[in-house]
Amino acid sequence: MSKVIRVCLVGAGRAGKVHAHSLVSHIPAGELVGIVEPVRDVLDAAADQFSIEARFQSLEAALEWGRFDAVVITTPTFTHKTLAVMAAEAGKHVFLEKPMALTLAECDEIIAAAERHGVFLQIGFMRRFDPEFVAAYERLQAGEIGRPMLIKSLSHGPGLPPPWAWDLSKSNGLLAEVNSHDWDCTRWLMGSNPERVYAEIANFKGKALGIEVPDFYDNVLVNIRFESGALGCISGVCPCEYGYDARVEIVGERGIMQIGEMRGQAVVVCTNRDQGLVTPIYRTWGQRFAWGYILEMEHFIHCIQRETPPKVGGHDGRWAVACVLAGTKSFREERPVYLREVLGET
Ligand SMILES: NC(=O)c1ccc[n+]([C@@H]2O[C@H](COP(=O)([O-])OP(=O)(O)OC[C@H]3O[C@@H](n4cnc5c(N)ncnc54)[C@H](O)[C@@H]3O)[C@@H](O)[C@H]2O)c1
Repeated sequence: MSKVIRVCLVGAGRAGKVHAHSLVSHIPAGELVGIVEPVRDVLDAAADQFSIEARFQSLEAALEWGRFDAVVITTPTFTHKTLAVMAAEAGKHVFLEKPMALTLAECDEIIAAAERHGVFLQIGFMRRFDPEFVAAYERLQAGEIGRPMLIKSLSHGPGLPPPWAWDLSKSNGLLAEVNSHDWDCTRWLMGSNPERVYAEIANFKGKALGIEVPDFYDNVLVNIRFESGALGCISGVCPCEYGYDARVEIVGERGIMQIGEMRGQAVVVCTNRDQGLVTPIYRTWGQRFAWGYILEMEHFIHCIQRETPPKVGGHDGRWAVACVLAGTKSFREERPVYLREVLGET
């Protein structure tokens, strides 16, 4: 029987609790044995909720204890590089939430540390494990709609992310915090790297919400040209109020494919004719991608057990960060930006 993989969670916020739930409730091959969180009452509340005894207020303290094989890092983006490198240097496998980091130099440091210390690195792109996205990918690969020519991908989130994420210097903004998944999935589904992007942003609600951070935006639209010659479009809206909405449409030479819908359940109720048909929508990202989160974590644990590299690694995380940086440069400079400009290639 394979050894159970002992995991320490780093960061007990929104994403941290989703992964803790997956480990505790769905993945017998992994055991959540420790938790790191600097805010004492947040630490105790999460540790109590998931019945974890080993509690630490810093990763350094957890590493000193050291009785785990892997970390799951779910902290704000600006802390990712330091924590991921520290864990890798201590010989711990790393599951790191998206966005991988703030800069490409940080991504390179993380990738190099993981390689140097022989640990696996998986980035939290759960859509690649979502059963619908996987089915679409396989059918695209099988050539069902022919060569993909055009892709449209949207991610609209209902509520504001935590305050650190409003600040572009700490998060790279909506293009990173929400649209990292679109950058990754459009590249994955189209089987091609983006070559050029053009982004427009707007800020409709920031002022009313009291957000004073410079450069805050809550709407973004990006046009993409891929190296394959295909075209793409990504939209991000947050907060969008109406629910969590993540849908993709791909037009191929022989047909069209749509992934996802707004309906969260195949239940429709009608009680009065003025209201019409009422059907539940997806309310949160945790709900929409429930299986994606479980299956990505199970994949990480199985990769460690079987000593096989994760199928979504640092290279993919780095590409998504490059796209975020190109998109940001595009709306700042009000012009299309080639990926090679941010990748440092001439
Ligand atoms: N894959 C997804 O769909 C998804 C969804 C939400 C968030 N995320 C990502 O997860 C990460 C965290 O986002 P969140 O929304 O959970 O943020 P959050 O603010 O809710 O939680 C972050 C937690 O990390 C803690 N923290 C800060 N510095 C720390 C440190 N040095 N060591 C340990 N803990 C520390 C904070 O106190 C906080 O409790 C971000 O990278 C975000 O983009 C991914």
